Amino acid sequence: LTAKIVADRDFIVAPLDRRVFGTFVEHLGRCVYGGIYEPGHATADENGFRGDVLALTRELGVTVVRYPGGNFLSGYDWEDGVGPKEDRPVRLDLAWASTETNQFGTNEFMLWANKAGVEPMFAVNLGTRGPAEARDFLEYCNHPGGTKFSDLRKSHGFEQPHNIKFWCLGNEMDGPWQTCAKTAREYGALARETAKVMRWISPDLELAACGSSQRAMPTYAKWEYEVLDECFEQVDFISLHAYFRNDGNDIAEFFGEIDNLKVYIDEIIAVSDAVAAKRRSKKRIMLSFDEWNVWYKAHRPEDLKKPGWPEAPPLLEELYNFEDALVVGGALLTLMNRADRVKAACLAQLVNVIGPIFTETGGPAWRQTIFHPIADCTRNGHGEILKLKVDSSTFTTKAHGEVPHLIACGVFNPQTGQVSLFALNRSTEDAMELDVDLRGLGEALKVGESQELYDPNLKAINSKDAPDAVSPKPNGTARISGCRFTATLKPQSWNVFTLM
Ligand code: AHR
Repeated sequence: LTAKIVADRDFIVAPLDRRVFGTFVEHLGRCVYGGIYEPGHATADENGFRGDVLALTRELGVTVVRYPGGNFLSGYDWEDGVGPKEDRPVRLDLAWASTETNQFGTNEFMLWANKAGVEPMFAVNLGTRGPAEARDFLEYCNHPGGTKFSDLRKSHGFEQPHNIKFWCLGNEMDGPWQTCAKTAREYGALARETAKVMRWISPDLELAACGSSQRAMPTYAKWEYEVLDECFEQVDFISLHAYFRNDGNDIAEFFGEIDNLKVYIDEIIAVSDAVAAKRRSKKRIMLSFDEWNVWYKAHRPEDLKKPGWPEAPPLLEELYNFEDALVVGGALLTLMNRADRVKAACLAQLVNVIGPIFTETGGPAWRQTIFHPIADCTRNGHGEILKLKVDSSTFTTKAHGEVPHLIACGVFNPQTGQVSLFALNRSTEDAMELDVDLRGLGEALKVGESQELYDPNLKAINSKDAPDAVSPKPNGTARISGCRFTATLKPQSWNVFTLM
């Protein structure tokens, strides 16, 4: 196979908002307890944060972390998770049929986020709660002092406000599984009034309204239209959620899920802009893809709930294989290529629960296969997204018709002059000769990083005993001559190249 790309310095999509490299920590299964927090673990610090997970989080390079949920959010009382740990109540978490000890809460998360070097993306409960509790929570988090809740924070040992800027207004409020789901009009009005109150406390917040919990929802698109029709003036973002599946064990269809993502993004932009058009407004609502990943194997009823209200049970513990890493890589490139409208995104989730990091409680932590394409993008995705002209051979899928073998993304960093190229060859049969014309992007470029993620076995996984079975290796085929870059991409391979 051959594929040609033309990249031109004068054609860019938009500067990349690095918040697209976000992830998600929910009180769910072993994400918090046994994941980021495990007092007594051999690597735990004075706060009980696992040092091995912190180190892997930094290596993953994620920029924002959404917290505390997820479905958990819609029944959560934030007050339960602050103050002396011995006074915190033990509660039933109805979302995941678990016992929540509340030994980890807002202040612990902020300490952890500082150590991990990530920005927080917080959320207010608009399931069982509303504007009054959101007001109190924001006063606790962001007000300097001299009021009931800001002084309460100080009394908990946090003199300085946390100044949390990005807030999600609820979670998946269209889903019948959600604690206190709403109709679009009900939720849209609630989001509007909550947003008003929150902005009166902190005018510089960025606020995201809930979109549909997936594209397959019966109320899809109508939901977004009606929600935004209610709260268009008060919010900045609409959220999108997508979990890719390979139930039919058909790699072509699984790869096609990436093309589905493109359609989803286009549709939500169209709906958001229709709401703007109705108002003759120049304002553009941005997209926060605040949950996305492969998730279908650990999706049986017993993966979602365990009997007996256990504490931190193993839930949603998806073991990622090599083909999952390819789909995750392709999906991330698709999000990056829409840098004009996708300004934030969160891989769901960070650790154990559908996560790129996996731990054994009391034991080691390791990288799942999907860790690698994410880390490649966070490490090298700095600057402006180039509007690539891609000419690739195609393959046919049942659900998505004819789609290109090659998914690519190019990023130019005007500060350093670095060009980063990411390329996924979706042919499972044939290698691909890649030929890139880098017009105006530098005369004397040299190849820096040149790596591939490849395994002949699509089902290969990493495990405690073989943590690096699927890991990047050098791709020795990259060549540059003037502005022409060439490389060979193995069949079913993820590749990253940097040029300086
Ligand atoms: O990420 C797992 C769950 O998926 C989240 O709690 C929920 O928002 C979504 O349905």
